Amino acid sequence: MTDRTDYGTAFITGAGSGIGRASALRLAAEGAAVAVSDLRREAAETVAAEIRAGGGRAVAVALDVAQAEAIAGAVAEAEAQLGPIDILVNSAGLILVEPLLDFSAATWAKVMAVNVTGTFLVSQQIARGMAARGYGRIINISSVSGLRAGVGRAAYGTSKAAILGLTRQFALELGARGITTNAIAPGVIETPMTLNAYSEETWDRVLAMIPARRRGAPEDIAEAVAYLASPAASYVNGEVLTVDGGYMASGMTQTGQLQA
Ligand SMILES: NC(=O)c1ccc[n+]([C@@H]2O[C@H](COP(=O)([O-])OP(=O)(O)OC[C@H]3O[C@@H](n4cnc5c(N)ncnc54)[C@H](O)[C@@H]3O)[C@@H](O)[C@H]2O)c1
Repeated sequence: MTDRTDYGTAFITGAGSGIGRASALRLAAEGAAVAVSDLRREAAETVAAEIRAGGGRAVAVALDVAQAEAIAGAVAEAEAQLGPIDILVNSAGLILVEPLLDFSAATWAKVMAVNVTGTFLVSQQIARGMAARGYGRIINISSVSGLRAGVGRAAYGTSKAAILGLTRQFALELGARGITTNAIAPGVIETPMTLNAYSEETWDRVLAMIPARRRGAPEDIAEAVAYLASPAASYVNGEVLTVDGGYMASGMTQTGQLQA
C-alpha cells in the first residue's frame, strides 16, 4: 500500500487525439496536472486548453516519440512547468498495414520506431526520475493486436506484442522502486485511427465478433487508465488489462445461437 491519495502529475504521449486525449481529460478530472504531449502541437494545445477551461492544470508539449534526441527536452519542459512526473501513459501509436510477403523494411522500421522504441525511450527517461523519487505509474497502450494476429499487421501486431514484453521488463526491473508498469490491450475503439481505416462493412464484421455488440469508446480505455494510474493500484504490476467488450474471451461460436 502507498500513503499517497493524489494522482500527481501525468505525461501522456499521443494525447492530441483518441485514447490519449480521453486519458488526459480523465486524469485531469481526477485532479492530475497533465502534460499533453503529441507529435501535432496544435492538437496538444487544443486538449490542454480544454482541460484548463474545465478548471484543471495542463500544458501542451510537442514531441515526436520517434525522435530520440527530443525526448529528454520535452520531459524537462513538462517538469519545469508542472513538477515531477508521477504517471506516464504511452498512447502515441501508428498503424500501417501491408501484405506479409510484400511488407517493406521501411514500413516495418517506421512502426517499430514509434510504437516500440518510442515507448521504450520515453518510459526510460521518465522512469529515471520516478525511480529516484520512489513512485511511479507507467501505462502502456498495447492492443488486442498484440495478443492475436491480424491481416496486414506484421509490424503493428508485433510492435504491440513487444510493448507487452517491455511492460513485463519494466515491471520486474523497477518494481522495487515504487513504480508499477502495466499495459492495456484495447479492442476496437472508435477513434480517428479506426474511423480512417475501417469501412462500414468492416465495422459490421468486427462488431459480430464483439460480445458487447458495440464499438469501444476512448472513454472506456480512459477508465482503465485512471484505475492503473491511481495510487490504489499499487500492487498491480506487469499486468495486461484487456478492454475489448469480450472480444478476446470469445471463440468460434459466438453468435448467441445454439449450433452443433
Ligand atoms: N483505436 C483502436 O481501436 C485501438 C485499439 C488498440 C490499440 N490502440 C492504440 O491506442 C493508441 C492510441 O490510438 P488512437 O486510436 O487513440 O489513435 P489516434 O490516431 O486517435 O491518436 C493517436 C495520436 O498519436 C499521435 N502520434 C502519432 N505518432 C506519434 C509520434 N511519433 N509521436 C507522438 N505522437 C504521435 C497522433 O498525432 C495522434 O494524436 C495507439 O497506440 C494505438 O495503437 C488503438
